[in-house]
Amino acid sequence: MTGKRILLIVGGGIAAYKSLDLVRRLRERGLNVRVVLTEAGAQFVTPLSLASLSGQEVHQELFSLTAEARMGHIELSRDADLVVIAPATADLLAKAAHGHANDLASTLLLATDKRVLAAPSMNLRMWLHPATQRNVATLRGDGMIFVGPGDGAMACGEFGPGRMSEPLEIVAAVEAALAGDTVIPLPMAQPPVLAGLRVIVTSGPTHEPIDPVRYIANRSSGKQGHAIAQAAANAGASVVLVSGPVSVPDPAGVQTVHVETARQMLEAVEAALPADIFIGAAAVADWRVGAALVEKLKKGASGPPTLGLVENPDILATVASHARRPRLVVGFAAETEKVIDHAQAKLARKKCDLIVANDVSPATGVMGGDANTVHLVSKGGVETWPTLPKAEVAQRLIAELAALMGEGGA
Ligand code: C5P
Repeated sequence: MTGKRILLIVGGGIAAYKSLDLVRRLRERGLNVRVVLTEAGAQFVTPLSLASLSGQEVHQELFSLTAEARMGHIELSRDADLVVIAPATADLLAKAAHGHANDLASTLLLATDKRVLAAPSMNLRMWLHPATQRNVATLRGDGMIFVGPGDGAMACGEFGPGRMSEPLEIVAAVEAALAGDTVIPLPMAQPPVLAGLRVIVTSGPTHEPIDPVRYIANRSSGKQGHAIAQAAANAGASVVLVSGPVSVPDPAGVQTVHVETARQMLEAVEAALPADIFIGAAAVADWRVGAALVEKLKKGASGPPTLGLVENPDILATVASHARRPRLVVGFAAETEKVIDHAQAKLARKKCDLIVANDVSPATGVMGGDANTVHLVSKGGVETWPTLPKAEVAQRLIAELAALMGEGGA
């Protein structure tokens, strides 16, 4: 860790006094700390204290000729290994979530190519407000890491969540973040590694009707499958996304076909063949009701109904054994136990080239969440990736598939 560079943004909150100690603690660990102080932050701590503790000039202005001459704001945003916001105020988080760039701190957050760790600090009502919670969810989805806030007595006299984490907790989060990959690849600057190729992706759940108002379905937000379709399109592929019912928007530059049932999904996939790559990320319902009712099923004296289930077609297995089989057939395995074992069995049984396996036990928060921890299981072995935003999992998967296409197999 020694020698790593931290860009610390000090926002305007009473917890800014703890940031003085944070600078000391980070420097004790051999880290180089460059401080940016917001206008509001300067109401709580002085640039002189921060400059003395960091041993470096403190940056405050976006449009400062002297500062820009020494180091431009873009350079400042990229020079660090990690950006830390402490205290991260509601206003700074809102600006970052919406991509504002009207002062030095917000501009740096938009321009940086490094991971950002935020230590929120605000009144509990401000923290619990749906607007702040929405912004935090957006930022998490974009890859921002959070430490705290903690619960406790606040300077404003109230008690609850919103207290900035203590300096040593922030230091531990900094160490953990620095242990991982802190460079964020540019989404749109993905090399066109799939140019000229045709990719079919399935995503979301399928809904299998019981009667006109009820259905059987698996839990699936479609976030991962849609991110993969987007990443494939960004990499230059011509993409058909066959999506079950989801609330996420259609990806840009992708032909999206909306379906409801597994049989419709299979039909749409077969209609989209031939393709070079098939990625089955949908959570297809394994069974459907053999004879769905035309009228709504009524509660009655005869007790609960018996649903006669029949098996749905396996889309992945069908595509993998198809006369027009794509060169690469990739499946997903959402498991709650023995993740790798089940994935290996699925790889063989469904005859696909690669299985992306993940643990979806409720404790992982993967279902509907924005991050995913996956294992790539192929005949060649198992590769485990760190926990990443779903968009990044998608980009890495596309890069991996492009490499496999180059090698001529899995
Ligand atoms: O067997 P299981 O449902 O766990 O397999 C998951 C993989 O198989 C996923 O890639 C999923 O999209 C695909 N699948 C499918 N059709 C089904 C069931 C699963 O394409 N009927």
